[in-house]
Amino acid sequence: MNFKGRDILSTADLTKEDFLEIMEVTGKMEELVKKESVSDLLSDKIIAVLFMEPSTRTRLSFETAVHRLGARPITVSSAASSSAAKGESLADTAKTVDGYVDAIVVRQPLKGGAKIMADAAKAPVINGGDGAGQHPTQALLDMYTILNEKGSLEKLKVAMVGDLKYGRTVHSLSYAMAPFSPKEYIYCAPDELQMPEDIVADMEKKSIPIKKTQDINEALQADIIYMTRIQRERFEDPAEYERLKGSYVLNRSLVEKGNKDIVIMHPLPRVDEIATDVDDLPNAAYFRQAHNGVYLRMALLAMITGRA
Ligand code: CP
Repeated sequence: MNFKGRDILSTADLTKEDFLEIMEVTGKMEELVKKESVSDLLSDKIIAVLFMEPSTRTRLSFETAVHRLGARPITVSSAASSSAAKGESLADTAKTVDGYVDAIVVRQPLKGGAKIMADAAKAPVINGGDGAGQHPTQALLDMYTILNEKGSLEKLKVAMVGDLKYGRTVHSLSYAMAPFSPKEYIYCAPDELQMPEDIVADMEKKSIPIKKTQDINEALQADIIYMTRIQRERFEDPAEYERLKGSYVLNRSLVEKGNKDIVIMHPLPRVDEIATDVDDLPNAAYFRQAHNGVYLRMALLAMITGRA
């Protein structure tokens, strides 16, 4: 599949062949970085990195990817520093920036907002997180991490823990792993934060066995445990956040009772859902996962600009 000019908005839009091609190009990007830290593959390109919600990993790894490919970024790092603060619509922002750059990466708080921008711009748009919707580049780097840690994406038991309702990373990961015949998805969350029913129904249509639980010990029997933060910023009622925060705290003694080969992942940032005494365990993959974001984002930028 030729990715040139293609928007990357949701993992639900991608096929198994797409995922495998992206994994292959990501591997090549990792080799490239290890050979020459900055290439000239995209030296004639300018990339817009528009972030209207806070970010450390996604924005900085996209910017690093742009630099490592020899391209140049133009950046907005908060809604307050762009004309969004004056009430400009997403479509108008996209139509404007479209005239400046070769590709647009965007994070903003409205579910579906990246699609609005992609529809308004001719340049390819990458969704860097749209509210409680999707975070496809996170899921793709998660897949690359799983491939590195487990050697395969096929037939894995994947547990997702925490805020599955608002957690765009686990929405994207559910669709991303679906073509690889998961043995089971274990959705571990308080009832109020369980995976949205439309996503559960989509997974069941794909014949993926689903277990819903509140017990993290069940999640610890999986091949992958994917912890997530309870996201204060998504709650309308602060009292509900106060009640649910701290629902799950994974610590070393809990990990030691689970599957000894489990891979522990987290999109980060964490608050307190993984204790720091887990960080030194060989199973703790979350910082390796964050570092893989650069290779994956290099791959996507090269692919959508027709250079890979
Ligand atoms: N995983 C992730 O999206 O992190 P940031 O919010 O720091 O970009």
